[in-house]
Amino acid sequence: MLKKVSLSLVLIAGIGGHAMAACVLTGPMSKEAIASRLQPPGVPEVVVAGGGAAVPAAPLVAAHPGKKIYDTSCTACHSIGVAGAPKLGDKAAWEVRLKKGIETLLKHVHEGYNAMPAGGACPQCTSEDHKHAIEYMSGTTL
Ligand code: HEC
Repeated sequence: MLKKVSLSLVLIAGIGGHAMAACVLTGPMSKEAIASRLQPPGVPEVVVAGGGAAVPAAPLVAAHPGKKIYDTSCTACHSIGVAGAPKLGDKAAWEVRLKKGIETLLKHVHEGYNAMPAGGACPQCTSEDHKHAIEYMSGTTL
């Protein structure tokens, strides 16, 4: 009996303490507090090349594995559709391309395709990287 009472007291103290700490330390409307609420759990860390310290991914965006590659290499053409490049998020344009099959698309990115340079401006990217970028641009999971 005595045990039960003290346990619930601990629980109440725990909950109260937690809520208060959240208010005092961050403030519910502070930028950081909003960002931390919007951030999905388990956002992967980005490891800086060269063995630097790990830094957290951009706080407000759930990181798609293809986003970074797209932002670095594909966006120059695929954001505005340079020379007929299928645009980011243009489902209809991507549907036509995806019908060719992912193997063909990866081959075209790897070797270059009409106005698209070999590697899609990312010659060091692996097929897996390119695939992620295609998934990101087309809004599909392949
Ligand atoms: C210099 C501009 C440019 C860059 C950079 C670029 N692309 Fe392209 N991409 C194009 C153009 C233009 C087309 C359309 C070519 C056509 O159909 O004639 C295209 C088409 C594609 C296609 C469809 C190919 C097919 O067979 O229909 C894929 C997939 C693709 N790009 C992926 C990528 C990826 C992934 C990246 C970044 C790693 C990238 N592209 C970077 C210009 C670019």
